[in-house]
Amino acid sequence: MAGKTVAATWHNRPLTQTLQVKAGQVVTLKLHAKAATPPDFTPPKRLGNDTPAHRASARLKRGVNLGNGWEAPPDKSWGVHFTTADVDRIAAEGFDHIRVPVAWHYYLKPGSNGMDISPTLLADLEPVLRRALDKKLHVLLDWHHFDDLTTAPADHSARFIGGWEAIARHFQAWPPGLFYELLNEPNAALTTETVNPIYQKAIAAIRAIDPNRILVVSPGHWGQVGELDKLRLPDTDDRIIVTIHCYEPFPFTHQGAGWVGFQDLRGIIYPGPPDTPYQIPAALRDNAGLRSFIDGYNTLPGEQNPCSARCISETLDAARTWSLYFGRPIHLGEFGSHFPADHASRARYLRDVRTLTETRNIPWTLWEWKAGFGYWNPQNNQARFRNSLFE
Ligand code: GLC
Repeated sequence: MAGKTVAATWHNRPLTQTLQVKAGQVVTLKLHAKAATPPDFTPPKRLGNDTPAHRASARLKRGVNLGNGWEAPPDKSWGVHFTTADVDRIAAEGFDHIRVPVAWHYYLKPGSNGMDISPTLLADLEPVLRRALDKKLHVLLDWHHFDDLTTAPADHSARFIGGWEAIARHFQAWPPGLFYELLNEPNAALTTETVNPIYQKAIAAIRAIDPNRILVVSPGHWGQVGELDKLRLPDTDDRIIVTIHCYEPFPFTHQGAGWVGFQDLRGIIYPGPPDTPYQIPAALRDNAGLRSFIDGYNTLPGEQNPCSARCISETLDAARTWSLYFGRPIHLGEFGSHFPADHASRARYLRDVRTLTETRNIPWTLWEWKAGFGYWNPQNNQARFRNSLFE
């Protein structure tokens, strides 16, 4: 490993960082230089690179999300249910952690001492979490799809903070391998600036009960890397891992995904360019961003192509630079590709993300185990992407 000094700016302040890079590796640094320093700007404290959060993060390498199960509304199942058999398979595949999305807002109600958690949920969820911890998998327990909070933060933040208080109280005696991820993908009205003080209060509520638990926190805008420089965490708390999501190149990973309006988008390969130019489906021709992506996808070679590893490595480099500078370990909490893409492309994409994260020492958690992005095929009980992720 050779040291390389690179310079960049952050809020117009010089930011010099020595990165450990392999000899000959090209480092692209894209930091988000701001036009002006905000009036209320106070730089976060730099915590160094050997905090309890760093040591905890170093125990995570390869994980998978238990997606589409407990994150769905309880009365409208998305057809996925997890049991201890899933955990056994996950451990046998070689994953060392699971991320468990739960739509906690459906399962909390006011009780005599704060909020009560639904016993029905706990009876279903706890055996899975316990099996994972018994198998030495770490567990990132996450609050997913709290749409009331993202739509009207002021009206629902008390429920969020009280909810975490109840969860922290309930799991207080559980092993330290259980981490809490406060909120999946803050978005809409819940900007990074808006979620910062809400996080601070939720963290204070958890810390009053459980000072040592490792917490995981996402910036706004669906956990995008460009939001990291707005994130404000308690300077005195060095037990927080910061998580980002990366679904770039998005039209490849989300082809066929109705919930992002891409139900008609099919047949994008990875990496581009394709042998014959791709024609945008009529229903999507008004989407200027997609048009520009497809123009580049059809024509540009190698890493110039927008459907290549470049956008992934740029995201990871920016995250890593921020992480090294401020002393907050970084985690890639979601990436993955939806099933309509061809298998060979999906396998190449997953191998690229895995390689690019691992060479930067960033732990990753695949989206997801056995649904539409699934690693595991529940029809034939076979793994789909073992080569890409483990070999
Ligand atoms: C986010 C959403 C989840 C979706 C995934 C891929 O995690 O919460 O529902 O499946 O991204 O788009």
